[in-house]
Amino acid sequence: MNQDFAIVILAAGLGTRMKSRRAKVLHRAGGKTLIELVVSTATQVAAPDRVHVVVGHQAELVQQAVAVAGVRTIVQSEQLGTGHAVLEGRSALESAGPHLLVLYGDCPLVAPETLAALMRQHLETGAAATVLTTRLADPAGYGRMIRDRSGHIQAIVEEKAATPEQKAVTEINSGIYCFQTPRLFECLARLRPDNAAGEYYLTDVIGDLASQGRLIGGFSICESWQVLGINTRVELAEVDAVLRGRKARALMLDGVTIQRPETVTLDLGVSVGSDTVLEPFVQVLGRSAIGSGCLVRSYSVVSDSTLADEVTVEPFSLIHESQIERGARIGPYARLRTGNYVGAEARVGNFVELKKTRIGARSKAQHLAYLGDADIGAGVNIGAGTITCNYDGLSKHPTTIGDGVFVGSNTTLVAPVEIGAGSYVAAGSVVTENVPPDTLTIARSRQTNKRGWPSRRSGRGRS
Ligand code: UD1
Ligand code: MG
Repeated sequence: MNQDFAIVILAAGLGTRMKSRRAKVLHRAGGKTLIELVVSTATQVAAPDRVHVVVGHQAELVQQAVAVAGVRTIVQSEQLGTGHAVLEGRSALESAGPHLLVLYGDCPLVAPETLAALMRQHLETGAAATVLTTRLADPAGYGRMIRDRSGHIQAIVEEKAATPEQKAVTEINSGIYCFQTPRLFECLARLRPDNAAGEYYLTDVIGDLASQGRLIGGFSICESWQVLGINTRVELAEVDAVLRGRKARALMLDGVTIQRPETVTLDLGVSVGSDTVLEPFVQVLGRSAIGSGCLVRSYSVVSDSTLADEVTVEPFSLIHESQIERGARIGPYARLRTGNYVGAEARVGNFVELKKTRIGARSKAQHLAYLGDADIGAGVNIGAGTITCNYDGLSKHPTTIGDGVFVGSNTTLVAPVEIGAGSYVAAGSVVTENVPPDTLTIARSRQTNKRGWPSRRSGRGRS
């Protein structure tokens, strides 16, 4: 961890070009907000209490997004430009260290190793500022690096202010720089918003320092994708694809089979064990952890859930905030809404919906059921069409089913209700009272057979 540097991350802008009500840095790539991604990179090169995030648009939400990282925030209540954003943090940043690394919250792909190398060069050369740059075949939209004949950086010119000759420059400003902190604030205090946008441009500091004859360093990288800035949803999708592609690659190298990886959506926070197979068009999201030897078949979505080893998820299943134990089989077309536990080797089949339900080991609910707020023991059979009536219009009530119970098809369990261990519920029952253990309950009207009634009715019986 570098003691010479404080870090400031600019994240106060709305991001007009995103055409969104949401602040730009709260948009997600790889399942994480852009600001989380940048903060996570920053805290790999400096201690969290040396990292400052400038917030403005939807400040509270941005603050919330970075709170767990333990970084500091600075409020820029009016967004008057990148230079103004840094100036707003003057008192905190001046006392935070002799050098300042500036990052933009909309540039999430830069590697911590790149930042560390930039910071090292900045210290070794003694430059007043060091700018991370790259060359782009299409530099449109970025600030251009203007160098003199001997290659010294003279200024950064924004696209809007650039002459045709300057626009032809392919070396761009990444928006990542190191500054000697006192030099930076001297210049920022002099900054004027005399440009087409009427903003205080941080980039103007470079020209100011150069005109004072100060040394400006350039740290140029070939891997331009590292400094891809997100200004529109097109770039958001590009960054998202890079992050997810990287994640898929890392998992494949760790022994996960991913069929047609370009179709599979993997959030950065997920883990998948070796010899698990993810079929095309699977999504594994949030903080999901999938064990080894599992099979997750096409069009299934697993979010914030834990799957132990050897679990099979058949196609078109949705598993959210649930825990599935070893060898269980889910789907096809199952919906596990939230707060479910499925025991080892249990089966949850097609068109079965679970909500806050616990199913014990080897139990089966194979077809067409709604099980909500239910605690179901081990070795239970839930027949097709079983419904727990957990809601009376005012509040939710529990259903408890003991080990080894057999619930016949099309049973209605009116909660709160308990079925004792080893009992049988006859098909078509409406169960409103508790059933003791080891009992057969039949809760339906008795069948009456009227022989000859159809023919009597049609008159055939009287001939
Ligand atoms: C900026 C650079 C440009 C560089 C590009 C790299 C300036 C003037 N231009 O342009 O040279 O090539 O980034 O991606 O710096 N922000 C604030 N407060 C403000 C304004 C912006 O916090 O008042 C934040 C934004 O939330 C954003 C970052 O600063 O995260 C950059 O702002 P943005 O408007 O995206 O600048 P670019 O036009 O991309
Ligand atoms: Mg930008």
